[in-house]
Amino acid sequence: MKSYQIYIDGKWINSVTGKTFQSLNPANEEVIGEFQSCNSYDVNKAVDAAEKVFSSWSNLPAPKRGELLLKVANLLREDKERLSKLVSLEMGKVYKEASGDVQEAIDIFEYMAGEGRRLFGITTPSELKDKFCMTTRNPIGVVALITPWNFPIAIPAWKLSAALICGNTCVFKPSSDTPLCAIELVRILEKAGIPKGVVNLVTGKGEDVGNSLIKHNKIRMISFTGSRDTGEFILRNAGLKKIGLELGGKNPIIIMDDANLDLALEGVIWGAFGTSGQRCTAASRVIIHKKVKDKFEKMLINKVKKLKLGDGLNKKTDIGPLVNKRALEKVHNYTQIGLREGAKLICGGKLLNKKGYFYPATVFTNVTKNMRIAQEEIFGPSLAIIQVNNLQEAIEVCNSVKYGLSSSIYTKDMSNAFKAMKEIEAGLVYINSSTIGSEVHLPFGGVKQTGNGTREGGLGYEEFSEVKTIYVDYSGKLQRAQIDT
Ligand code: UN1
Repeated sequence: MKSYQIYIDGKWINSVTGKTFQSLNPANEEVIGEFQSCNSYDVNKAVDAAEKVFSSWSNLPAPKRGELLLKVANLLREDKERLSKLVSLEMGKVYKEASGDVQEAIDIFEYMAGEGRRLFGITTPSELKDKFCMTTRNPIGVVALITPWNFPIAIPAWKLSAALICGNTCVFKPSSDTPLCAIELVRILEKAGIPKGVVNLVTGKGEDVGNSLIKHNKIRMISFTGSRDTGEFILRNAGLKKIGLELGGKNPIIIMDDANLDLALEGVIWGAFGTSGQRCTAASRVIIHKKVKDKFEKMLINKVKKLKLGDGLNKKTDIGPLVNKRALEKVHNYTQIGLREGAKLICGGKLLNKKGYFYPATVFTNVTKNMRIAQEEIFGPSLAIIQVNNLQEAIEVCNSVKYGLSSSIYTKDMSNAFKAMKEIEAGLVYINSSTIGSEVHLPFGGVKQTGNGTREGGLGYEEFSEVKTIYVDYSGKLQRAQIDT
């Protein structure tokens, strides 16, 4: 079996632990390779390597750093097909979506390359004469990037590209479900000429590697995408580090009585069952006007029954496997919870007797807003339909969860749309399209327990830099703000 290494200070090496773990193909449970189970000693080495080159990397002019990022984008483009196949193989999503994952990485590296010539600050008049005020953006230092498996190329790319353009050096810890995708991405950074030590890769368990990163006193910032509980653990244990969090979602699609139902149907299928529902932006609630509920439900059942479950690399597959056994058990457990709560199961909900972590598209109706299946993030192909009487009630239901990442409304009425845009508590609102499909140059992130206010994508440089405010007094005398005006 092929064994893979970690990347520290420009060298591919083994962990000091001598221990390894395996990554499995979720479609057939075959082992893809063996990976290093790192510990705090490996983390220390990675942090030291990143610290050593921080000065040289952060002093390289940002446009020059941008040139390297553009090389990364170009190499990713050349390798898109191979990488997309790897994404399907290692985490299970269908090939078309896997190529979207890689494309998102290409786009963000290209976008952040250009950011090297912006990284704008502001200038503004002073309240005093002969005094000049401005801000600059500055790197933070050594940053830790802890990433999930559901976008194993795109999400690391969001974080790496923003961290690097701002002049930070990185220790990157990918999910243990997708270490090979991370290794291939780092190989591309290496090939593009990112200097040694600037990006270091450590693999292994959250309890070991993640914990050491969170508590490390030389790490100035942590950017994490993953579960709400881990996010909260990081906030409580990281001390006075800057923290960027992208956590869960319970994203609704509101369907009004005047909606184009065919369009809404496509949006619901894509939002709820794309990536087997394993997106933090996945649609897990349909909040529907009572006048169109029965009709829409029939249309939905008809379509869901035709969805083909299978290996993501098979062209005919609509829904790939879940990422691992634990995920499969969790999703099925929520089906039992839904049944116990009295919701009506109208599609799916059964474990299949086959190899691989497959779960059928599952739909519950007659769900009420406080049921656990309407409140908790399931992270699988499981959808709850909630009936409402009007827009006001729809928005209330929409906002009744602790999360606030993405949301959508289908309506032809402009005032419905504008009301929803204003009143929905979410970082992303889509009008007449699904809850997924963010573009890299726009801010991505959520409100409430979805995060702590940071935004990635188009505003990623804010997360990965510090603002410095600079006053230049050229009056030649003491001028006191608030006093001598
Ligand atoms: C995520 O689900 O973790 O809009 C990220 C989307 C993708 C990004 C999703 N572009 O669904």
